[in-house]
Amino acid sequence: MMYVMRPMRLEDIPQVVQIDRDSFPTPWSAKTYQFELANRNTSQLVVVEARENTDTSPDGLRAMWQRLRGIQVNGQLAGYGGCWLIAGEAHISTIAVHPNFRGKGLGELLLAGMLQRSIHRGGEYSVLEVRESNTLAQNLYHKYEYQVNGRRKGYYRDNGEDALLMEARPLDSGYHERLKQRLAALRERVPYIDKFSE
Ligand SMILES: CC(C)(COP(=O)(O)OP(=O)(O)OC[C@H]1O[C@@H](n2cnc3c(N)ncnc32)[C@H](O)[C@@H]1OP(=O)(O)O)[C@@H](O)C(=O)NCCC(=O)NCCS
Repeated sequence: MMYVMRPMRLEDIPQVVQIDRDSFPTPWSAKTYQFELANRNTSQLVVVEARENTDTSPDGLRAMWQRLRGIQVNGQLAGYGGCWLIAGEAHISTIAVHPNFRGKGLGELLLAGMLQRSIHRGGEYSVLEVRESNTLAQNLYHKYEYQVNGRRKGYYRDNGEDALLMEARPLDSGYHERLKQRLAALRERVPYIDKFSE
C-alpha cells in the first residue's frame, strides 16, 4: 500500500463523514466540512489516501509519483485531519484514521504534516482537546511534545466526559528540526507522498 497526503477536496466529504461516524460519538456533518473547506484562510483540512502499489522501491515510488502528478483521482481515504491557524495558534480541530488503517503510522503522519504546514504559515504553538479516556490519542500527542495544561469539565455532550487541554509550545526552529527527524523516521515505516511539499 502507498499513501498520498493532500488537501481535502469537496468530493472527499462522503468518505470523510463515514470515517468520522466510525470514529467519534458526535461526528461533524457534511455541511461542517463544506464550511471548513470554504474557509481556507484559517482552516487546513488534509486527507491521506490509500493506493495499491506493488513496487515500493525508491524508483517505483518515483514512477508512481510521476503518474500521480496533476492527476486528480480519488482513491480510498485512510484518514483526515483539520487544523485552524489563528494568530500563531495552531488548533488541531480533528484527526481520525479509518478503523482498517489504524496503527500503521497514519495518524502520526497527519498530525506531523499539519504541524509542519502550520509552522511554515507562522504557527508559534499548538493546542487541542482530547477526551480524558482517549489515552491512545494522548500517546500520539505526547510523542509530538504536547503537555496537558488544563481541563474542560463535562466538555463532551454525549457522556459528559472532561476534555484535557494539551499544548505543544514553542513550535520554534528546534521543534521544527525534531519534527523533520520524526517525519524522516516515519518515512522508513510508511511509504507516503506529501503533495504539499511539492
Ligand atoms: C488517534 C488516531 C488518529 C491514531 O491514529 P493511528 O494511525 O492509529 O496512530 P499511529 O499508528 O500513527 O500511531 C501514532 C502513535 O499513537 C499511539 N498509538 C497508536 N496506536 C496505539 C495503541 N493501540 N495503543 C497505544 N498507543 C497507540 C502511539 O504513541 C503511536 O506512536 P508509536 O507508533 O511510536 O508507538 C486513531 O486511533 C483514531 O482515528 N482514533 C479515533 C478518533 C480519535 O480518537 N481521534 C483523536 C481525537 S482527539
